[in-house]
Amino acid sequence: MDTETTEGPSGFWDSFYSERERIWSGKPNAALVREAETVAPARALDLGCGEGADAIWLAQRGWTVTGVDISAVALSRAQQHAEEAGVADRVHWLERDLALWEPEGEYELVSAQFLHSPIELPRERILRRAAEAVAPGGLLLVVGHTAFPPWGRHRHADEAELPTAEELAMTLGLRAGGWQVETTTSEGREVTGPEGQVAVMTDAVLRARRVGTA
Ligand SMILES: C[S@@+](CC[C@H](N)C(=O)[O-])C[C@H]1O[C@@H](n2cnc3c(N)ncnc32)[C@H](O)[C@@H]1O
Repeated sequence: MDTETTEGPSGFWDSFYSERERIWSGKPNAALVREAETVAPARALDLGCGEGADAIWLAQRGWTVTGVDISAVALSRAQQHAEEAGVADRVHWLERDLALWEPEGEYELVSAQFLHSPIELPRERILRRAAEAVAPGGLLLVVGHTAFPPWGRHRHADEAELPTAEELAMTLGLRAGGWQVETTTSEGREVTGPEGQVAVMTDAVLRARRVGTA
């Protein structure tokens, strides 16, 4: 990824998505599937939803989903994929800069999967605000890198700030009361790079439940 841009984050991410017809696999993230599979569907918020695979998977399971991303290119693909999957009426796509946007209302699931950026992204602030939008009894699920793939072309702006799940739980104040931290794990995952290189990446998985009943 080129970290030099004069177009700001939306221009950067639109260029990134425009490099190829499809960037991601179209499959939902494995940790989301595992952590949310048995949760009763209600309202979900997907932060940095990209091309929409997670939001569509949730909608197929009965969730009403709001997918937020800064890239219009990614969101128009997400919309198209949702239509093809027959769930367009269950997903609301929002083109917003999460650095500026504040969630309205409450969600039984707030999910942030690999919300990272090679350019400025106040991830901690975004996650803190998103946590406030979790309904009583609802879940916050954050999955992130603990290091970037060795074939990455440029350093990410947030590379020095890749917390473990436990560190993130502490930073977000989830250990201070009002939350039950249910999962803080580091998981190895085999990934294949653009030239077929294989590496094992470690993901930090944080799942926390807001105390209370709906
Ligand atoms: C590494 S991708 C992950 C996409 C998706 N969650 C997944 O797991 O495949 C990060 C996503 O965050 C989005 N993003 C980055 N900065 C953003 C910002 N400031 N506001 C909203 N979305 C942003 C990007 O457009 C991109 O789709």
